Amino acid sequence: MKAVIPAAGMGTRLLPATKAQPKEMLPVVDKPTIQYVVEEAVDSGVTDIIIITGRGKRAIEDHFDRSLELEQRLEKSGDDQELREIQRIASMADIFYIRQKEQLGLGHAVLCAKKHLGDEPFAVMLGDDIVVNDRPCLSQLLKVHERTGSSVVGVESVPKSMVSRYGVIAGEKQGEDLYRVTDLVEKPTPETAPSDLAIIGRYVFEPQILDCLEKTGPGMNGEYQLTDAMRALCTDRDLYGLKFTGRRFDIGGKGDWIRATIELALERGDLASELRRSLGQLLERDGEG
Ligand code: UTP
Repeated sequence: MKAVIPAAGMGTRLLPATKAQPKEMLPVVDKPTIQYVVEEAVDSGVTDIIIITGRGKRAIEDHFDRSLELEQRLEKSGDDQELREIQRIASMADIFYIRQKEQLGLGHAVLCAKKHLGDEPFAVMLGDDIVVNDRPCLSQLLKVHERTGSSVVGVESVPKSMVSRYGVIAGEKQGEDLYRVTDLVEKPTPETAPSDLAIIGRYVFEPQILDCLEKTGPGMNGEYQLTDAMRALCTDRDLYGLKFTGRRFDIGGKGDWIRATIELALERGDLASELRRSLGQLLERDGEG
């Protein structure tokens, strides 16, 4: 199984932080966002990873490459733990890079990998979505795919007032957390949303999705919408929505990025007590003000 990680978007929601650096390289605690995504792929058994990059995204390639100078420096200073971590990052998976020359949307980014995917199912993981859980989110989707042989998307219940930020599925319940998708609507209003089940950044696709992407082509804003292609796919093939277990953070937005950093730092033994104290003081001061 190969995984495609689209990471070529401009990241306008995080400006000015993303003016000259990829949003996928923004750290959550002390690790770039995209490293969490690559680790989830590896922990789910995926070893071939295709990252879709674009202008200004070189730092992603450098991050997963070896840095001999840095390794020598750490070796000399006897910092074995850091050294092992730096070497682990560079050898985690076979990573290939494809450039998306024009930012024509998520669907187009996935199509850029077409030649390298062959006629096999593949995973898509958004480079700015983190899901934290003991059982990796992608492995939960892969399990459904193994059982059904069909495409599977990760979905999450969101408050009705927020559905207009997402693609939303209409589905028939097939079990506790599984739905057979009957339709998809991109960014519906709360009144027109067919459910509160929003599509988030994890997918396992049959290769037919690539034909659907080509056939549906660009939408009204000139972008290839993955949701449009998924709607075409589910007219004659099964597509499932899995309510996965885990906490998801959309690092592409400022609120979630800050929330992720705080939540995950509070779970770290080396950082939690100091952070808890600082947060306590801040909240106290805030309450007094
Ligand atoms: P987003 O819509 O979150 O990315 O796409 P964006 O365009 O960077 O967002 P803004 O500008 O803040 O609104 C979801 C994923 O698809 C990738 C992004 O990098 C992100 O991981 N993407 C998006 C591409 O690879 N290419 C594109 O043309 C658009």
